Amino acid sequence: MNAIAVRRGEDEPVVIEKPRPEPDEGEVLVRTLRVGIDGTDHEVISGGHGRFPNDDDHIVLGHEAVGVVTDPNGTEWEEGDVVVPTVRRPPNGTNQYFERGEPDMAPDGEYVERGIVGAHGFMSEYFTSPADCLVSLSRERAHLGFLVEPISISEKAFEHAFASRSAFDWEPESALVLGNGSLGLITLAMLSAGDSFERLYCLGRRSRPDPSIDVIEELGGTYIDSRETPVAEIPGAYEDMDFVYEATGYAKHAFDTIEALAPNGVGALLGVPGDWEFEVDGGRLHREFVLHNKALVGSVNSNVGHFRAAVDRLETLPEWFLDELVTGVYGVDELDAAFADDDSTIKTAVEFHRI
Ligand code: NAP
Ligand code: BGC
Ligand code: ZN
Repeated sequence: MNAIAVRRGEDEPVVIEKPRPEPDEGEVLVRTLRVGIDGTDHEVISGGHGRFPNDDDHIVLGHEAVGVVTDPNGTEWEEGDVVVPTVRRPPNGTNQYFERGEPDMAPDGEYVERGIVGAHGFMSEYFTSPADCLVSLSRERAHLGFLVEPISISEKAFEHAFASRSAFDWEPESALVLGNGSLGLITLAMLSAGDSFERLYCLGRRSRPDPSIDVIEELGGTYIDSRETPVAEIPGAYEDMDFVYEATGYAKHAFDTIEALAPNGVGALLGVPGDWEFEVDGGRLHREFVLHNKALVGSVNSNVGHFRAAVDRLETLPEWFLDELVTGVYGVDELDAAFADDDSTIKTAVEFHRI
């Protein structure tokens, strides 16, 4: 079968031939429909994040998948069920994080991530998965099933961030999303659909005309260009944001987030930057945290509960948004277009089988 992989020592995806996998006991064989691409895939391809599977000279890419059960293999799934797989698996047998259903809270060494850290991903004509690492999706939504994983990322981040404000009467009205990539825009749409935020802002570094800026404005958000307006100078947003969601991977934004937060606000950091040394006024930031009851949470990955919440959330996002977000779905022979990282691309997916 065809698979899309990056080989050790190379920095671009290629189509390779691999044998169709056989499901082990407790596993299901899934015929892959579509697999989405995000910033992390580009980081894996460039070698900035992730790890090759031990003893293999390549990693099959892809962690945002949707497929159809083709061999339930004695599990509770039925042939024809549309399913979305979670990303993390235990490295050797199981461990406490997986047993608790919280693999997203496992530290380094206690997990692999399919398509990212030490395990092959879902970008192949078929993949296998433990039955309990799959969530169900309706056939009508199968074409958008590759959005469930990224939505689940924000479900987890929201849960953790909002839990940190649960000890008092918190009524957030303003939110700032840092980053106009696919994760930033999905998150802005989630915040906008909830109707509880009166003011929404989204930061990018693009000039008009740009499809992501159109989406921000259609969602009712105010676009901020970081080249003209650094976070600390955003009118109406500096020290006035109840919720900040960082999805740029730009390390200074972690510290800008503290300053952009209103008293009692919370920031969620999602980006995965490389090492970068720079100066910060640690005393001022420390004081801000304490005297204004601010909170920052880091958040990575998501568990089955977040995936189920994401399946429900998908129903609440407007059709026009989903249409504009997905700028292309490409065949296995169109890798250049599928992995394009230009300004006209927001979210793409590779289609392995037609729905
Ligand atoms: P992406 O498509 O690369 O989006 C990042 C966006 O941030 C891009 O649109 C980029 O703009 C913008 N940006 C970067 N630096 C900026 C700056 N200084 N000012 C303004 N805009 C800036 O990636 P993504 O898939 O949306 O993911 C976003 C980040 O979250 C990545 O770091 C990714 O690794 C991380 N992530 C984390 C998790 C998790 O579980 N924690 C899950 C998914 C993704 P340009 O395109 O114009 O350069
Ligand atoms: C994936 C997560 C993963 C994270 C860190 C993200 O792009 O969506 O599932 O945990 O990267 O590798
Ligand atoms: Zn991802």
